[in-house]
Amino acid sequence: MKKQWWHDKVAYQIYPKSFYDTNEDGIGDLNGIISKLDYLKELGIDIIWISPIYQSPFVDQGYDISDYYKIDERFGTMEEFDTLLAEAKKRNMYIVMDLVINHCSDKHEWFQKALKDPEGEYGDYFYFRKGKNGNPPSNYRSYFGGSAWEKVEGTDYYYLHMFAKEQPDLNWNNPKMLNELYTMINWWLEKGVAGFRIDAIINIKKDLEFKSLKPDGPDGLVSAWRVVESVNGVGELLEDLKKHTFEKYQAFTVAEVFNMKRDELVEFVGENGHFSTMFDFSAHTLSLGEHGWYDSHPIRFEDFRRVIFDSQAECRDVGFLANIIENHDEPRGANRYLPLYAQNDDGIKMLGTISVLLRGLPFLYQGQEIGMRNCRMESIEEYDDINTQGEYEMAMEAGLSKEEALEVCYENSRDNARTPMQWDNSPNAGFTTGTPWLKVNPNYKTINVKNQQEDKDSVLNYYKKLLALRKSEEYKDVLTYGDCVPMFTQEPDIFAYAREKDGQTVYVLANFGTEKKTLTGCFKNRKVLLNNKTEAIFDDASVTLEPAQVLVL
Ligand code: GLC
Ligand code: CA
Repeated sequence: MKKQWWHDKVAYQIYPKSFYDTNEDGIGDLNGIISKLDYLKELGIDIIWISPIYQSPFVDQGYDISDYYKIDERFGTMEEFDTLLAEAKKRNMYIVMDLVINHCSDKHEWFQKALKDPEGEYGDYFYFRKGKNGNPPSNYRSYFGGSAWEKVEGTDYYYLHMFAKEQPDLNWNNPKMLNELYTMINWWLEKGVAGFRIDAIINIKKDLEFKSLKPDGPDGLVSAWRVVESVNGVGELLEDLKKHTFEKYQAFTVAEVFNMKRDELVEFVGENGHFSTMFDFSAHTLSLGEHGWYDSHPIRFEDFRRVIFDSQAECRDVGFLANIIENHDEPRGANRYLPLYAQNDDGIKMLGTISVLLRGLPFLYQGQEIGMRNCRMESIEEYDDINTQGEYEMAMEAGLSKEEALEVCYENSRDNARTPMQWDNSPNAGFTTGTPWLKVNPNYKTINVKNQQEDKDSVLNYYKKLLALRKSEEYKDVLTYGDCVPMFTQEPDIFAYAREKDGQTVYVLANFGTEKKTLTGCFKNRKVLLNNKTEAIFDDASVTLEPAQVLVL
C-alpha cells in the first residue's frame, strides 16, 4: 500500500458551537478553538475536523449553508479563521473543514433566485418538478420526516429536499452548478485547509424521473434510505469531484457514507478511491429501528463485535476506514455501547482502547476523551435539534406517551453529543460566562477536563497514553499498517484482537462481561503497554481479566 501523509494520524472532531466560547454570547467560536489548540496537541491530536462554520441560518446547526465563502459571524471572522490555520500549522496540526454540498440553505442566493424563477438559470441548480394530481412529484420521505418535496407557493412546482425543507438539494447534473462548487472547494484548499469531511455525499445521485417507490410506512411514503439504495452510478460524480479538486492538493477526505453498495468499497476508499477514507458506521446503524427512533433497540455485544470485525476484514486489502465511537449525530458512546455496569471510567477506557487501536484512522469526538455522557432533558422544549423534534413527533404519532417519547430522545438524540464541552467545575462547565445555547450536562461538576488533568488515573490521562502508544516510534508501524486479527470470538463478552506486522504483535484484550474471564494463551512474558486497572493476573498459559478490564500487551 502506498503510504500517505495521513495514515498514522489521529483526528478529533470539534462541534464549534459547543466547544469553547470566548465572547460571552453562549456560542463556541473560532477564538475558542484557537485557545484550545495546545490542549488538543497535548492530547495527541493531529487532524481537527470542524463541523460547519460557514454562514448559515442554523436550521440544521450550520449544515444549511447560505454562503460557502463566509465564516458565520457567530463563530468569528475570516481573519480569525486564517489565524486558526496559522496556529494549527505552527503545531503541525491540520484543519479539515466540513463540506456540505448535497444541499445548501434555502437562504442561499442561488435558491432565492431559483424561487423567483423555477424555470430559469438558478432553478436548474436545484430539483424543481411539477406535482402530480395535486400531490408531490413522488412519495419520498425526507430524513427528518414528512415529504421530501416542498411546494413553491403560487406555482405548480415543488423542490426536493432530502433533509429539512430549508435544505434544498443541489442539482449535480448541472455543469454550471458543479463548476461553482469545484471553484469554492479549491478556494478553501488554496487557503490551506488540509481537506474535508464530506457530508451526506451518497445522496447526490438522483433518479431524474423521481419514480415513486413502494411505501414503507403508514404515511404512504418511502424512506430516504431506500431512495438512495434504488439508484446506481454515484461513483462517476464522485470521481469527477475528486479529479477537479482534492486530487490536485493531496487533500485528506473522509466521507460520510451510510448505504454504499457492498462491492463499491475499492472504488470508494481503495488506493485510487474517491476518498481517503470513510467512517465505519456499522456499529452505529445496529440500533436503527424500522420506522424511527421509537422502534430503535439496544445493541447486543455480539453484534457490535461482529460488525466491527467484518468491517476490518472487508477493508483489510483495500484501504483504511475511520473508526469512531461517537459524533455530533449520535448519542454518547459510553451510554450506547457499554453495559450499564460498565458505564464508568474503567468501561469508558476499555471502549476507547478497542476503538483507537483498530486498523484505520482513529477519530475522537469532543468530550469523548473525558467520558461525557448523554444528557437528560426535562421536556422536548429543552432539545434544540430539528431531527429530535421530528422523531419526538413520530414517536407520539406511533402511540408513545410523552414520557416514553422523551425517553426515546434521551437514548437517541443528537443533542446528547451537542451539550457544551465540560472544561471545569465553574458555572456552565467553564464553557461560557454567558448563557449557553444548549443545556450543560449537570454532571459537569464531576466530569470535566480540569478535574481529569489533576487525576493521573482519569479517562483523559488514559486517552493521552493510548494515543501516545498508537503514535510511538516503536508501535506506530504495527498499529497503523498491521493486520487486525480477531481473537476469542467464540467467547461471549470478550472483545479481543491482535495487530500483526513483520513478526511484531500487539494484543488488545477486553472483557465486556460482568464476570472474570480467563483467556488461554501465552501472554505472561509480554510487556503490558496499557492496563485500565491496577493489576493483571497472568499464569503460564493464560491471563484473567476482571470485568471491564482491557489489557494491551
Ligand atoms: C449529515 C450531518 C448531519 C446533518 C445532515 C444534513 O448527516 O452529519 O448533522 O443534519 O448531514 O446535512
Ligand atoms: Ca462566542
